[in-house]
Amino acid sequence: MGFGVPHRHFSRTDSTNSRARELAAAGAPHGTVVTAAEQTAGRGRQGRTWTAPPGKALLYSAIVRPLEERHMLLPLAVPLAVCEAAEQLEPELACRVKWPNDVLVEGRKLSGVLIEARPQDGWAVIGIGLNLSISPQEFPAELRDAAISLFATDHRVRERGSAGPSPLLSAGPPLPDPLTAAVALSRHLDRWVQAEPDEVLGGWRARDFLHGREVAWDGGSGVADGVDDRGYLVVVTPGGERVAVGAGEVHLTRF
Ligand code: BTN
Repeated sequence: MGFGVPHRHFSRTDSTNSRARELAAAGAPHGTVVTAAEQTAGRGRQGRTWTAPPGKALLYSAIVRPLEERHMLLPLAVPLAVCEAAEQLEPELACRVKWPNDVLVEGRKLSGVLIEARPQDGWAVIGIGLNLSISPQEFPAELRDAAISLFATDHRVRERGSAGPSPLLSAGPPLPDPLTAAVALSRHLDRWVQAEPDEVLGGWRARDFLHGREVAWDGGSGVADGVDDRGYLVVVTPGGERVAVGAGEVHLTRF
C-alpha cells in the first residue's frame, strides 16, 4: 500500500509527528498518514517549534517501514516530493530545495521537513509542514520576510475562491484544501521514498538553491558546491579545501 492508507485526521492535536510515532510504535503499517487542522505543539528541526493558523497549512506525518539502506537519502527525497506536490497544486510555482531539507519558493520557506527515525525499531516518521494559505501578516513578525505560502506567492495573496466582495473578482478555481494537498503529497512520496539514490541526487541537484552560494556554520564557511553521494553538503572553504558536512553535525548560520 502507498502513503495515505490508512489516514487519520485530527481537528486538533499537539503534533502529528507525535501521533504518528505512537502509531508506529504500536505497529501501524508503512504508509500510515496522520494530518491535523491544528497543532498545539508542532515541532521543527533543531528543537524549534512549528506554528500555523488552523486550517491554513498542511500538517502531515507519515510512517516509513521497514527502514532500509535505500532510505539513507530520505532527507533529500522528501523535499523533492513536496516540490512536485506543490507544483502540481500551483503549476505557476518553481520550487527549490535548501539543504538539509527545506523547500523554498522565491527564496522563502514554503515547507519544512522533520524526520524522526527509530532505526533500532525499523521505522521513521516523515513530518511535513507545508504553508498553504497563510497570509504574510499571519506569519510571526520574525518570519514574515523568510516564509511564504503556496497560494500567497509573489507577494500577493490570491483571491481565488475566497468569500471576496464579488465572485467576479475571483481569479480562478477554489483553492485546494489541506486534504487535497495531502492526497497529492502522498502520491509524490510514493515515488520519491522508493527512488534510487542516483535519481534522488539528480533531482536534488536540479533544484539546489544553495549551489554556488556563501554558507556558514559554527566553525566554518565557504561556497556550497552541491551534495555528495551520502547527502552531505559539500562546501569549498576560502582556502580551497572541499569539506562535506552532515545535517546532524552543522546548523547553517548563513543561508
Ligand atoms: C522545520 O523545522 O523546518 C521542520 C518543520 C516540520 C513541521 C511539521 S508539521 C507536521 C509535523 N508535525 C510536527 O510536529 N512537525 C512536523
